[in-house]
Amino acid sequence: MTINVSQISKDLVAQRGLPAKVFKDDDVFETECDVLFAQGWASIGCGQQLQNSGDILPVKIAGHSLIAIKNKVGEIGVFHNVCRHKGSPLVDEPCNKRTLVCPYHRWSYELDGSLISAPRFYGSDNKPISHKDKLGKGLIPVRFSIWWDIIFVNISADAEPFDQFIKPLNELLKDYPNDHLYQVSTTDYAGDVNWKLAVDNFLDGYHVPFVHSQACTLESALDQEDLFVSESILGLRLVSGASKKPAKTSKKLPHFDGLLPEKQGSQQWFCIFPNTLFFVDPCWVQTIVVKPQKTCFSTESLTVYVVNEQAASDDFIDERSILQDVLNEVNQQDIELLDKIQVTRASEAANNGNLNDAWDQVNKAFHLQWLTKMNNQPSTSRQS
Ligand code: FES
Ligand SMILES: [Fe+2]
Repeated sequence: MTINVSQISKDLVAQRGLPAKVFKDDDVFETECDVLFAQGWASIGCGQQLQNSGDILPVKIAGHSLIAIKNKVGEIGVFHNVCRHKGSPLVDEPCNKRTLVCPYHRWSYELDGSLISAPRFYGSDNKPISHKDKLGKGLIPVRFSIWWDIIFVNISADAEPFDQFIKPLNELLKDYPNDHLYQVSTTDYAGDVNWKLAVDNFLDGYHVPFVHSQACTLESALDQEDLFVSESILGLRLVSGASKKPAKTSKKLPHFDGLLPEKQGSQQWFCIFPNTLFFVDPCWVQTIVVKPQKTCFSTESLTVYVVNEQAASDDFIDERSILQDVLNEVNQQDIELLDKIQVTRASEAANNGNLNDAWDQVNKAFHLQWLTKMNNQPSTSRQS
């Protein structure tokens, strides 16, 4: 059964959140892939996952198969992971290569996407493919932008310019110099959950002291401020979050260079619609790229950074390791919880939920963002 998104009541969503069906409906998911993920600015991974020339990162997200490549001069490019002969994927796993060779019929490509060769292109005439015949057969590039080391793509290539899209968040974070982000780790997760529930959970500050009591006290969670940053960016702030939290590390990691004293305590985290989850502590940054695979199955990549050159040195090996362990433990707790919530939140009984005025306003705003963006697109008016 499909659901008519255009008939979902905004008032009801404001009161109870999105109806259960949108968390398990395959047609809704298909529309999300086309509209929210292809036409918006979705993240696919982190720049520092590509360290060396020839590093290739394949990403499956919302029905699209992409590759990020670091080319010979150290620049990153993003392409469809789709051979220009008959559409085979070129790469299945992260790897380092001098050229890309399609496993199906061995067409090969430069790291800049251009076609190098196509075996026996002229059949029995064994001459190499001509320059003229190579033209227009390179890998299809994808529009992208890198911000705070996060690789964002706009597959349809017609979204608003990224700088404009991200401007309100840039203004909010202008006191944080982001030119010294050092990747500590990237960890992959998978869960039987609709992507929206993973996002919703990230924007849920209420559960943190209960589910992650090792990382946050109820007292610190009560310090929460809602951040309605733009039509596509929502967040939360713990004004003195770090000071009331149990210490994650024995020796404190150095904070952002030159961060004002009044900013050295607060933590902020954001959802950049649709799938980028981004957490800024004075001493570390965490990004989670949520990658919808099926209606009720998502993968995630969680990357942890320290934010200061000194923090990346050998002096802080133990602290980086503890930080990475704590953040991954927290995410594992969420993944296990979300596997269970998928079943119940997508059931009819969940349509009688009650969003709480004190805690759930950012979640409500995310659900309304989703409804607005789905309804602004002609392809969403599916009939029941
Ligand atoms: S599909 Fe790639 S070479 Fe044929
Ligand atoms: Fe959580």
